[in-house]
Amino acid sequence: MTPTINTLFDEDAIAARVSDLAGEIAVSDPHRLLIVAVLKGSFIFAADLVREMHRAGMTLEMEFMHLSSYGAGTEGSDNIRVLRDVESDVNDRDIILVDDILESGRTLKFAKERLLGRGARSVRVAALLDKPEKRKAAISADYVGFACPDKFVVGYGMDMGHAWRQLPFIGYVVPQEPAGGGEATGE
Ligand code: IMP
Ligand code: MG
Repeated sequence: MTPTINTLFDEDAIAARVSDLAGEIAVSDPHRLLIVAVLKGSFIFAADLVREMHRAGMTLEMEFMHLSSYGAGTEGSDNIRVLRDVESDVNDRDIILVDDILESGRTLKFAKERLLGRGARSVRVAALLDKPEKRKAAISADYVGFACPDKFVVGYGMDMGHAWRQLPFIGYVVPQEPAGGGEATGE
C-alpha cells in the first residue's frame, strides 16, 4: 500500500526560503568560502542553495562529506561514521556546513570540530530544518530554513528507509495500521 504523505513545506515555500537564506549568507562576506554538503540528506538543498548564492553574487567552492549517524531506527546515535571525507585543504577558509536537519546536533558538532581541527578559519552551519527540542549536543545553526515540528520528515533529499528523497516538497508520512514504512538511514 502506498502511504499518505502530508505536505509540510511546499515547493514554492522552499524556493522562497532558500533564496532568502542565500541573501542572508551573502551579506556575511566570507573569506575563501567552502561549502561542505553533508551527504546524503542535504544534496537537493545544497544544490539549490549554491545556485541561489551564485545568483546573489557569491563566489564559492563546493565539497562533500558523507556521514552516517543512525545505527537502526529513527533515533540518532553517538556513533558517527565518516563514509567520505572532505578532500580540499580547509586551512584558513570560511566554511559553511550544509545539512538537511539539525536534530540531536551530534552529526554537525562532529563535522564542525573535525574541520576546525584541520585549521578552518570559521565553520558555520546552514540547516534546512531545525528540531531544537531534540538537541543533545551543544550546537546551533547560523542559518535555518524552517523550524521543524517533531515529526519524521521526508522529501527534498530526506529519506525514510532510503525512500522518498526524490519528492520536490517536504512532508511527513502519515502512520498506518499496521505500521508500515521503513527505517531512517541517518544520512
Ligand atoms: P542529528 O541527530 O542532528 O545528528 O541528525 C542526524 C541526521 O539524521 C540528519 O542530518 C538527517 O540526515 C537525519 N534525520 C534527522 N531527523 C530526520 C527526519 O525527520 N527525517 C529524515 N532524516 C532525519
Ligand atoms: Mg543529514
